[in-house]
Formats: sequence, C-alpha cells, structure tokens
Amino acid sequence: MENKIKGVKKEIVSKLNLVKDLKDIEKLRVEYLGRKGIVTLLLRKLGSFSAEERPKAGQLLNQSKREIEELLKIKEIEIEKLEKEKRLQGEGIDLTLPGRKLDRGTAHPINLVLKEIEEIFLSLGFKIEEGPEVELDYYNFEALNIPKDHPARDDQDSFYINKEILLRTHTSPVEIRVMEKQQPPIRMITIGRCYRRDAADSTHAPMFHQIEGLAVDKDITFGDLKGVLTVFVHRIFGKDRKVRFRPAYFPFTEPSAEVDVSCLLCHGRGCRACGYTGWLEIMGSGETDPAVFKMVGYDPEKYSSFAFGMGAERIAMLKYGINDIRLFFENDLRFLKQF
Ligand code: DAH
Repeated sequence: MENKIKGVKKEIVSKLNLVKDLKDIEKLRVEYLGRKGIVTLLLRKLGSFSAEERPKAGQLLNQSKREIEELLKIKEIEIEKLEKEKRLQGEGIDLTLPGRKLDRGTAHPINLVLKEIEEIFLSLGFKIEEGPEVELDYYNFEALNIPKDHPARDDQDSFYINKEILLRTHTSPVEIRVMEKQQPPIRMITIGRCYRRDAADSTHAPMFHQIEGLAVDKDITFGDLKGVLTVFVHRIFGKDRKVRFRPAYFPFTEPSAEVDVSCLLCHGRGCRACGYTGWLEIMGSGETDPAVFKMVGYDPEKYSSFAFGMGAERIAMLKYGINDIRLFFENDLRFLKQF
C-alpha cells in the first residue's frame, strides 16, 4: 500500500511538470481526486483491509490526498499568474476607449437663480449679510413698523413658535439687524429661506426664498432705486425687458413701489400669463420709512435709503418658464435635470 501511494505521488509530480493550462490541472484533479479518481478508489478499498492495517493505511492515504490537493493548488496559482502575465503582455491598452460616464448632478434651478442674483448685486457693490430663519417677532414685524393688528401677524399666516418667536415670513428683518449694528453707508443684500402658512398651490409654498436689498446713505433718492433695479432686471431677464415702478404700500417703506417687468411671453401685448396686462410683478421696493430709521437709531433727516425684496421662486419661474412652484420642491429628477 505504502509503495503504491508513493508511486501515485511520484506520478502526479511528473504529470504536473507537463501541465500547460488550468484545464490540464482540472483533468488531473478529476483523474486522482474525482469520484472515480485513483486516490478516491484507493480510499474506498480501505474497507477490505484488515483491522490492523486499516488505521495506518487510512492515515497515509488521507495525508497523501491532502498533499496532492496542495500540489494541484500550488500549480494552479502558478499557471494563473503566468496566464495573466501573458494576457497583459498581449493586450495593448486602448487609451481611446471612452470612460464610463458618471451620472452628474445638476444645480437646483433656485440655486442657479440665487447665484445669478447674488453676482449681479455683488458686481454693483452690495455686500452679503445674513440673519436667522427663526426670528423674533420684534425684528420680523415690530421694528418694520408692522402694527400689532396687521393681518400678517395672525398666526393663521405665520409659523409661530411662541408669542415672541416665529419662522421669519420675509427677509426684511435682516435689514433691521444690519442697521442696528452698522452705521451708513450701507449696501447689503441677504438671501434666505422664509416661511408662511400658505396652503400649497401653483404659486404658494410654505417655504420659499427671498432676496432682500438695502442701501442707506446721505443722498440716496428714488432715482437710485429705479436705476439699480432697472440694471438688475436687464441683467437677469435681458436688456429688451421694460421695467415699471407702480405705487404700492408697505409698512416699512415710504414711498413704496412694486416693480413690474414687461411680460416675458407676450412682450407686453397681453396674454394669459400676465392676466392680459402685459406686466408681471417681480418685487416690492421703497425708501425706508422714517419710523423704521428711528427704531434703529438712524436720523431720518440725515439719511435716506432704498430697499427691495423679491421671491427667488417667482424669478426662477419667470426666467425658466415654470408654471408650478411645487416643482422646485418635489425633487423629480426629470424636472431638475433640465437645468
Ligand atoms: N418684505 C416684503 C414681502 O415679503 C417685500 C419687500 C417690499 C421688501 C418692499 C422690501 C421693500 O425691502 O422695500 O412682501
């Protein structure tokens, strides 16, 4: 038995030297270790051995089986390595093969518009300021000359956290915070989220973005307001837009004006988008009310200003021709990928 096994091992070692590829190894594995392989058959024969001989022969056979497995494995690894080297040598790398495309994200249309607006005002010498989204009633209303019984203060319209604290309903409170801290001259814009308890429909969302601007100095006039905002409209919507300043009312400005742009669809002729008026409203503006200046300790005799506030969603809707504000918040990639 011992001799037989030795013979088998020798045989396999010499056969392994002749092996050329993985298939040859597999053949050898079947030949020796397969169900009808030489070693397997020898193991099966153990039953016919005498009780004395069996343990020793069994041990020997099992050990040999493991050795053969090991030899096959070593050869297999060696051949795999060789084959890989051969393959790499033969295979010139094709650098012209196009790479796999990564799925690239796109900027959100609101971010695009905010960035564009920011750049316009930065180029005009405005600085960026920031204020909190969770705001005191004082800054959101009181200091802006919005009286206690004003409908905007109704908790039906605003998200109140308690009697004094709410989610800001506009970015105008940042004007107050800046004026409290700084002396004129001031040229600032602020960009941020605002919240109102509006039921969502095609033009209302409970959260939206505003851009607010304020310039305070000694000789600021309504002409400055018109000049700056006309430049803004021409840069964001194009030079062929007409701009109109329509008298309006805001508690914190006097005089106040709403800014209209000639309809982007019908160019002023009148269509459904502009309610057949030829104009689209894009923002509120005005000169800071003396009452507000007094609140922050500015002398209304010495200083004058202009201020404005607009909704980013509204600007984006007009600029990109989007007819439902909810599209901005639904994260539908079919919509978002277009920008
Ligand atoms: N805060 C106003 C709003 O949310 C917009 C506004 C109007 C801001 C006139 C201003 C302004 O700074 O001067 O409706």
